[in-house]
Amino acid sequence: MAIVRVGFVELWVRDLEKSLEFYQGLLGFRLEHREKKAAYLRGYEELEWSLKLTEAPFPAVRALGFKVDSEEGVRALQDLAAKEGWPHRLEADWGRPEVLKVQDPFGYPLAFYFKAEKLPRVLQRYHEYRGPGILRIDHLNVFSPAVGEATRFYQEVFGFRLTEYTEDDEGRLWASWLHRKGNVHDIAFTNGEGPRLHHFAYWLPDPLAVLKAADILAGAMRTDQIERGPGRHGISNAMFLYLKDPDGHRIELYTSDYLTVDPDHPPVRWSLNDPRRQTLWGHRTPKSWFLEGSVLLDLEENPVPTRPSVLQGLPEHVT
Ligand SMILES: [Fe+2]
Repeated sequence: MAIVRVGFVELWVRDLEKSLEFYQGLLGFRLEHREKKAAYLRGYEELEWSLKLTEAPFPAVRALGFKVDSEEGVRALQDLAAKEGWPHRLEADWGRPEVLKVQDPFGYPLAFYFKAEKLPRVLQRYHEYRGPGILRIDHLNVFSPAVGEATRFYQEVFGFRLTEYTEDDEGRLWASWLHRKGNVHDIAFTNGEGPRLHHFAYWLPDPLAVLKAADILAGAMRTDQIERGPGRHGISNAMFLYLKDPDGHRIELYTSDYLTVDPDHPPVRWSLNDPRRQTLWGHRTPKSWFLEGSVLLDLEENPVPTRPSVLQGLPEHVT
């Protein structure tokens, strides 16, 4: 099978109107379709929806979606799930007739799909852009209590490639960045209580758009939803801004990382004690960023139980 890229995230939210006011109203996502309790959104570059919001009793994450290169690829993943005994089933969604839901051995609710109805191209309809100009989904970042194990598994079983990683002095892996599409990551694993979603990220056109997003939040008197940034990451070299949505789900607005398509691209090692890894300019990261995340749902829509990390403590520069 060949995973092409991260494709979508499906969130449970408590109040759909409130969430749409944030994602569509402030951030300018395009709302493409609404059903009774669900909304489907996308960025201006995307030809398929990439964010599904469903009104539900509590905030959670129902699916972490990945685009696969063919129907045969979806079949191969289905065969693998059956052979390994992972919970799985086929579902249909709006514009996606065949979505393979799989709960992987770590508890992450994955969704694999190929067939998708294409939406009209709006990339150059600049007069319709709203907010900072959200272009496309870029990556997912998940908490894992066993980063080393998960990283090896995603490399060996799903074919992800490592671009950067954080290690302590004893050589233990604290975080990893893995890609399929040719930039720094489609998924990252972060040490912490898990499995949980740490954040999902969307690509913006340039660093000025990141600043514009911060201005929009400030103008709307919503600074309480700015958790971290704007800044530049050491890891990935990208410009970033982290926001909390009305349910506490964390979204990163992200731009300007680098190309990693060479098959022999060497991974970058960061020391856990290097403060430049998280913000190149040395700014401290708030504690909430290390601790708070979104609950995942299993295939029966029950919260996936979490366990604490085997690696305890926070890097000393963190406050
Ligand atoms: Fe990120």
